[in-house]
Amino acid sequence: MPHNITIRNTEFSRISEVDFNHVVFGKVFSDHMFLADWNGKEWTAARIEPYANLSLSPATSAIHYGQTIFEGMKAFRNGDDVLLFRPRDNWRRLNISAERMVMPEVPESLFMEGLKTLLSLDKSWVPSSEGSALYIRPFMFATDDFIGVRPSEKYCFCIFTCPVGPYYSKPLRIKVEEKYSRAAQGGVGFTKCAGNYGAAMYPTKLAQAEGYDQVLWTDPSTHTLVEETGTTNFFSVTSNSVITPNLHETMLAGITRDSVIQILKKENIEVEERPLSVSELKSLHSAGSLKELFITGTAATLINIEGFAHQGLYFDVIQTGNTNISDMLRSRLNGIRHGNLADSFGWIDKL
Ligand SMILES: Cc1ncc(COP(=O)(O)O)c(C=O)c1O
Repeated sequence: MPHNITIRNTEFSRISEVDFNHVVFGKVFSDHMFLADWNGKEWTAARIEPYANLSLSPATSAIHYGQTIFEGMKAFRNGDDVLLFRPRDNWRRLNISAERMVMPEVPESLFMEGLKTLLSLDKSWVPSSEGSALYIRPFMFATDDFIGVRPSEKYCFCIFTCPVGPYYSKPLRIKVEEKYSRAAQGGVGFTKCAGNYGAAMYPTKLAQAEGYDQVLWTDPSTHTLVEETGTTNFFSVTSNSVITPNLHETMLAGITRDSVIQILKKENIEVEERPLSVSELKSLHSAGSLKELFITGTAATLINIEGFAHQGLYFDVIQTGNTNISDMLRSRLNGIRHGNLADSFGWIDKL
């Protein structure tokens, strides 16, 4: 269904102020944003406006009761073309989050038309330098001005974008978390609701104070099975196969994770999606069979893990292993996303 998107252009583009070779991740915002309002029955007032502050009541439901969900995706430049990477997978995942948080579904047509109209308008913001992209942030939040715990009747759906460079610049040191949990059984770990990220900040801050970059979350019941890190999924490469924790309700189903699995399968490299314990990782390490560890996510793409800490001991993997599989995957992923390699998976949606 075509949506009647009204467009109000900015009078003063900020693009000339941006040094595209040195953008700090998430701090520079493109000229426009897409907005639509859920009035309790349907999506209305689909519009594009200059990127600006929103005006909200202090009683806005999302601020108090946390009905806020988001997505993260990227667009890449190839000459004059703008390439979107698997946008419909982000749309699907947004609606999985929406259902769990009792929020309205965003129709595919509204998501894709809003996204493409916004990107057409801000096309010149898609950076071209190596390792850079336009990060896209679709999100939805409850807008009732009402104090009382119940699902909001009204919501706002918004998309804005930021030109970005690399997220992490070097292999990471991670700490296996055994005290705190990111998600609970029966909870919302499989969604991208804002509260998941707020709750992860304290344990992450503690790990960073100990000199680690990120927490490696473990299962909330026994803290023995590895799950994922803050905003990425986790992979280990052994002498025989690539192992990644199987998806379940306390983990986010990463789109990069799925892409990596598909590339590995196409390369006839054995992938195991199954429970992976910390003790198995440690045994593999001491047997010299743990070759590589890496994490995957839209923002980070694919980053190697230098090593992991568990119960006060540090297991260095980079020194004893290599980065053969990670390097292959990173260059395949980047090649496809930037349009420099054939997309045999059907992942690219050209603007
Ligand atoms: C908790 C969590 N796990 C994993 C990921 C990786 O998902 P994707 O590859 O879709 O970016 C993300 C990022 O969205 C995340 O927030």
